[in-house]
Amino acid sequence: MIRLEGVTKTYRNGAVEVQALKTMDVTINKGEFVAIMGPSGSGKSTLMNILGCLDVPTTGTYVLDGEQVESLDEDRLAAIRNRKIGFVFQNFHLLPRQSILRNVELPCVYGGVSRQERMERAKDLLEKVGLGERVHHRPNELSGGQRQRAAIARALVMDPAILLADEPTGNLDAKSSEDIMRLFGQLHAEGATIIIVTHEPDIAAHAKRVIRFGDGDIVQDTASERREAL
Ligand SMILES: Nc1ncnc2c1ncn2[C@@H]1O[C@H](COP(=O)(O)OP(=O)(O)O)[C@@H](O)[C@H]1O
Ligand SMILES: [Mg+2]
Repeated sequence: MIRLEGVTKTYRNGAVEVQALKTMDVTINKGEFVAIMGPSGSGKSTLMNILGCLDVPTTGTYVLDGEQVESLDEDRLAAIRNRKIGFVFQNFHLLPRQSILRNVELPCVYGGVSRQERMERAKDLLEKVGLGERVHHRPNELSGGQRQRAAIARALVMDPAILLADEPTGNLDAKSSEDIMRLFGQLHAEGATIIIVTHEPDIAAHAKRVIRFGDGDIVQDTASERREAL
């Protein structure tokens, strides 16, 4: 599903260069549930942004679901973001003035899905994440956990090839975090390919594979403790 070969990322601010990713080679298969851990500044978000086609590598190759990403122009990248990637952010990134129903259906508007079809998809997904009774609420009328569930529904509405989540529980209390992780676990059981960044070992334990970052490099890549315990 995902293949990175020799991917590096260097940020340049004037004369200052930061090598955020050293040479990175990673393969993630369809249906995997991967947690990325590591200290602040180690390059986790940089990798996620590349995986999510929000940014491009400085060097190297990224193949996503059969498409070589770094050669694509901005229009093709936007299309891939819309069709193949569901991105979940720490701060939810919901539009505050729109209902969560509208928030969830919006990727389908850009994706050219008919009005009736996108309403059905959005309602079904909001039902699935436990917000069936809240579809007409705005984000600020919901708890953090509920907002993140709405954001996950939005990420799924175009039926993406991969679901990427960068510290999705970073702003949530323990109970909401557990709910969100259970939801990811359920999606994984249904066949979704999921990559999640987290600081918390409890959260990472839900994944089946843990990739540890240190200073722009992968320092460890293992099956998670929970899986070994099974
Ligand atoms: N847009 C940017 N411009 C310059 N440096 C950046 C930018 N984004 C991230 N960095 C730097 O790249 C390194 C990795 O950052 P990041 O990927 O955000 O790490 P993490 O998500 O693991 O905390 C850090 O040193 C950070 O300061
Ligand atoms: Mg980060």
